[in-house]
Amino acid sequence: MYEQQLSKALAVEGLSQEEVLLALETPKDSKLGDISLPCFKFAKTLRQAPPMIAAKLLPYVEKLDFVDKVEVVGGYLNIFYSRRHIVGGLKAYAVDNEVVGTSKEGAGKTICLDYSSVNIAKPFHIGHLSTTVIGGALYRIFKHLGYNVVGINHLGDWGTQFGKLIVATRKWSSLEEVANNDEYFLTSLYVRYHKEAEEHPEMDDEARAWFKRIEDGEKEANAYFDVFKEVTMKAVSTIYDRLKIKFDSYAGESFYNDKMEPCLDILREKKLLVESDGAQVVNLDEYGMPPCLLVKADGATLYATRDIAAAYYRKQTYDFYKCLYVVAYQQNLHFKQLFQVLKLMDFAGKDDMEHVAYGMVSMEDGAMSTRSGRVVWLKDVLDKAVEKAEKIIEEKNPNIKDKKQIAESVGVGAVIFSALWNNRIKDIVFSFDKVLNFDGETSPYVQYTYARCLSALRKGGDIDFAAVDYSAIASDEAYEVAKSVLSFGDSVEQAAKLREPCMVSRHIVDLAEKFNRFYIDHRIVVDDAGTRNARLLLTQAVANTLKTGLSLLGIDAPNEM
Ligand code: ARG
Repeated sequence: MYEQQLSKALAVEGLSQEEVLLALETPKDSKLGDISLPCFKFAKTLRQAPPMIAAKLLPYVEKLDFVDKVEVVGGYLNIFYSRRHIVGGLKAYAVDNEVVGTSKEGAGKTICLDYSSVNIAKPFHIGHLSTTVIGGALYRIFKHLGYNVVGINHLGDWGTQFGKLIVATRKWSSLEEVANNDEYFLTSLYVRYHKEAEEHPEMDDEARAWFKRIEDGEKEANAYFDVFKEVTMKAVSTIYDRLKIKFDSYAGESFYNDKMEPCLDILREKKLLVESDGAQVVNLDEYGMPPCLLVKADGATLYATRDIAAAYYRKQTYDFYKCLYVVAYQQNLHFKQLFQVLKLMDFAGKDDMEHVAYGMVSMEDGAMSTRSGRVVWLKDVLDKAVEKAEKIIEEKNPNIKDKKQIAESVGVGAVIFSALWNNRIKDIVFSFDKVLNFDGETSPYVQYTYARCLSALRKGGDIDFAAVDYSAIASDEAYEVAKSVLSFGDSVEQAAKLREPCMVSRHIVDLAEKFNRFYIDHRIVVDDAGTRNARLLLTQAVANTLKTGLSLLGIDAPNEM
């Protein structure tokens, strides 16, 4: 939390702030200091033994106001922070919720964030959970750090599936029936189509013909298309509301229909587009990748073609500093090809493109989504989590008001949190019992701790800041809590830098654990005014931090649980 200041003070005797910052580490055992600088790495450049270097650096640290004590142990410089200084720093966090973990690092920089990007007329299933909530969390985290963020839902609203659905609708249903039904009905048509098309491949020709009619802008075909889109978007929007997900742009694949040709021209000009069996591709042999197919033999464009056009459009429209794609690792090759083609095109944003990949989510009982209809709908997962949360709350606190609302916050929050707990790339197996465990590494645990803080604060009344006796929160347990509060901002910055919302989720669980350890040993509402106000201040700072952390992840913090 004081790393920046420390590294600045230590940029002396031939060391740079950068290298000091990189070298600083937190000792496992706090008896060795709050932070420590191993000097071994500097021995070569400074031509001195590490203990000598450490001794030389000591005076520069000793004089800092937030440092209490410095020791040279072997080649290490062990630094102990002033507890008084740390607990003093808590006040800002207790007074103003808005300042918790913010910074201005993003000022003047625009990030395009492509996430969720659902496919129209296909089920919104558990597989879309991660892109949606990781994207949503990154969106808020970047904003919190002052970035200008453009959330983009690159809708999958183009492709032969629309032709297939028209065929299915005409065969077994009608436009009216589809319009008056929900997304489940639409998907059932899609599933039925795939079953029957196996025996009647001629259906696929019919579907292609219909899709062509959509492409040609024909009225009847587009009336179907509009209804499919409407039904899907209605369903998806309800889920976005529950997950607190917002977008600034819904420019999907169809948006780029008239924007691909200029990109293909650039490719032609640069002689990058070559023919291969009637199709047009960019060869990527040299880069160890299969060719990137951009125009099929029948003239149809592809997913990749639209992504090239989208990249150009985004650069031109938003002049982004970074363009991020939160998409499953299954698409690693697609993005490697895309970025390579953009490099070859000498695209202005070529060095700022980034695939933020994540792993798969599967259900504990093995179910996953396929065309076969064994789809795990995200809506069903949310509903079931809420139902289970309601039962738990009913048992724990039967008289609580707004039970339904709280169950929604707890249940939905638990599902969100489950996708934000690990490093993105890890595959996860979803278990209702695990995510709803009130004593686990879960959002219900954090929410419960938050509610516990609020209950203490209600009992304690308004904090009298002038009366605070800081020595009353200088115990080891309180000190751990205070350090965790004050280093929350570092975790938010790390989360942004690594594109890893788990830095935030892990931090708030850790803070909740530390607070609960303190809470067991220390009564908060005691008679002595100095002690009481100090502990209330600590509690308020914790509450504000937990609430901010949850909200960055898109999770509500109910006042009572
Ligand atoms: N709709 C795609 C899918 O579900 C994801 C799109 C990601 N964004 C992009 N610009 N390619 O697989």
